[in-house]
Amino acid sequence: MIATTADTDFIHVFEPGSDPARRPLLLLHGTGGDERDLLSLGRTMAPGASLLSPRGRVLEGAAPRFFRRLAEGVFDEADLKRRTDELAEFILWARERHGLAAPIALGFSNGANVAAALLLQRPEILAGAALLRAMTPFAEPPAADLTGKPVLILSGALDPIVPKANAEALAGQLGASGAVVEHRTLPAGHGLGQADLGLLGDWLARN
Ligand code: MLT
Repeated sequence: MIATTADTDFIHVFEPGSDPARRPLLLLHGTGGDERDLLSLGRTMAPGASLLSPRGRVLEGAAPRFFRRLAEGVFDEADLKRRTDELAEFILWARERHGLAAPIALGFSNGANVAAALLLQRPEILAGAALLRAMTPFAEPPAADLTGKPVLILSGALDPIVPKANAEALAGQLGASGAVVEHRTLPAGHGLGQADLGLLGDWLARN
């Protein structure tokens, strides 16, 4: 494992992969997580892939996040836009530093929301994304060309944070931008379960 902080403001972990055929994974944790949270998930779900895992730079109390929110599910969109650009620049830096192809994002909750923002605001940055318990990041999403990019959205029918209609709106926005969207709603809450892992592993093996 290589953990580097020099030359970038993002605390992060980079783990070089052993399988050059696999796309790198960009791991984006949820509120209160950090750069180590999703490493074992990434290793299990995409064996051999390089893993790039930054820590969100916003603190809500002691909890790291990728952008500010005004209340649960209500985002500070000016901050979101700025943080999305910062994250995009970090990914470009890491690609050059480590010789990486454009990554597939694997994001949970707040990390899924910033991954959705990356897709819509900086569509050139990601090769695709798996969005676990995501919601629409922008009230009025920017026009983006996501033609052919694969996106998996896994939602929970009982999720108290993400209303069903909101997750469907996100799937609609990404699909209207040309992404190849697979949206599954599971009998689950905001947390992940075995059904998520099965669908995620299958999707990553195909993308
Ligand atoms: C967010 O703030 O991104 C969402 O409400 C998910 C969360 O982090 O709780």
